[in-house]
Order: sequence, then C-alpha cells, then structure tokens
Amino acid sequence: MADHEMGVPVITIDGPGGSGKGTIAMRLAEHLGWHFLDSGALYRLVAVAAMSREIAVEDEQALGSLAESLDVNFGVSGDGMVILLDGNYITGHLRSEEVSAFSSEIAAFPLVRAALVQRQRAFRKPPGLVADGRDMGTVIFPDAMLKIFLTASAEARAQRRYKQLKDKGESVNLSRLFREIKKRDERDSSRAIAPLVPAADAHVIDSTEMSINDVVQKIHNLHDKSDTSN
Ligand code: C5P
Repeated sequence: MADHEMGVPVITIDGPGGSGKGTIAMRLAEHLGWHFLDSGALYRLVAVAAMSREIAVEDEQALGSLAESLDVNFGVSGDGMVILLDGNYITGHLRSEEVSAFSSEIAAFPLVRAALVQRQRAFRKPPGLVADGRDMGTVIFPDAMLKIFLTASAEARAQRRYKQLKDKGESVNLSRLFREIKKRDERDSSRAIAPLVPAADAHVIDSTEMSINDVVQKIHNLHDKSDTSN
C-alpha cells in the first residue's frame, strides 16, 4: 500500500447483482463526502472493450492484457457518473444483460482479476472510500473499517432489475432476468478465485423487505458505532 493510502478509511459493500449495493454505496459516499468505487464497472468495461475488439470470452491471456492496459477515466457530470473508455463516453450499454453475462464470465480469470487489483486500490484516497463489488471486503480492502454484505432474494433482485430496465425503456422479460440472475449468482459464488462470499467480519444485511433508505440508515448506524469503537 502506498504511504498516502495508509489509514484512509474504507467501507466495503459486497453482494450479488440487484441487491441495491451500487445505489446504496453511492448514497453513502455522497453523504460522507468520500470517494466511490464501482468495481463491477471495471469488469464491465473490460467486457465492453473485449467485445468491441472481438476478443474471445475464453482467451484469458488476451483479456488479462486488455484489463492491464485499459484506458479508462471516471468523472462526474451534472446528472451522475460518466465513464470514458479509450476517450469515448460509455453509455447505458455498460449495464446491458449481454455485458453482465460477459463480465461475469471473464471475472473468473485470475489474470483479469490480478490486472485490476492496483487500479481498484488506487481509488483509496482521503478522506475515505466506499467500494462496492464482490470481493471488496475479502480481497481488495481486507482492512476496511466496515464491511457490509448485502443480499436479497433472487426474486426481489430480478424484480428490481426488471423495473430499472423498464424505466430505461428496454424491453425485458422477468422470468428470463430471474434465470440470468440465478446463473450469474451461481458463477460468481462458485468460482475458485475471489468468489462471492461475505468476509468473516462482514455485517450481512438482507434487503428483500427493506427500502434503500432503510439500508442506508442501517449502514450509517453501523458506521457511527464502528467510528466510536475505534
Ligand atoms: O456489480 P456488477 O453487476 O456491475 O458486476 C459485474 C460482474 O463483474 C459480476 O457479475 C462479477 O462477476 C464481476 N465482479 C467481480 N468482482 C467485483 C465486481 C464485479 O467479479 N469486485
């Protein structure tokens, strides 16, 4: 870890797709005035770049080099986060089901994961970082001050995804979404490297019956407690 990163507090929010971790992590970061890392976006960006370069989904070597050399920049514009890949704006395409499936497949490759480690740790800057993903608390920031593992039933997650895509005007099929979510869960949880599991010291929150505000409040309470106990 570089000197400037030592002691910079990190809150990690890991969990399966559709658990609400992205929205919640962003809210929390905004509220605390901390930086925000959407680590899934990095895997998705490798997927988008690989698809546009026609790199095969099983070519670990090429995908690893691509992840290593990815020219990506994150910024904020009036209405949210903007991402530039090779200098071009990336749009809603990043969240499509096609990119979701491709990114989940390539995320199982050790070379791809290793190429992204330092890139993720570089987001750790004062005054603090909220990081969301699958292995933030287990692998990337094992010394995080607060670790959350956010879950929700697969049905609830499929419903949320359905609504999100519908609101964006995409045509979606709920039962197909449900099947894809289950498939992605299975792949993310069973892979040999950095599988989707809660860190031993993570607080597990099941958001099936909770609103986003409820979850944010619960994490704030846990943060206040961990702050005073440190
Ligand atoms: O979080 P999101 O759904 O955007 O992530 C896309 C894919 O990237 C996941 O299905 C997962 O396979 C992979 N991922 C990962 N480790 C992370 C974040 C995402 O393996 N820390």
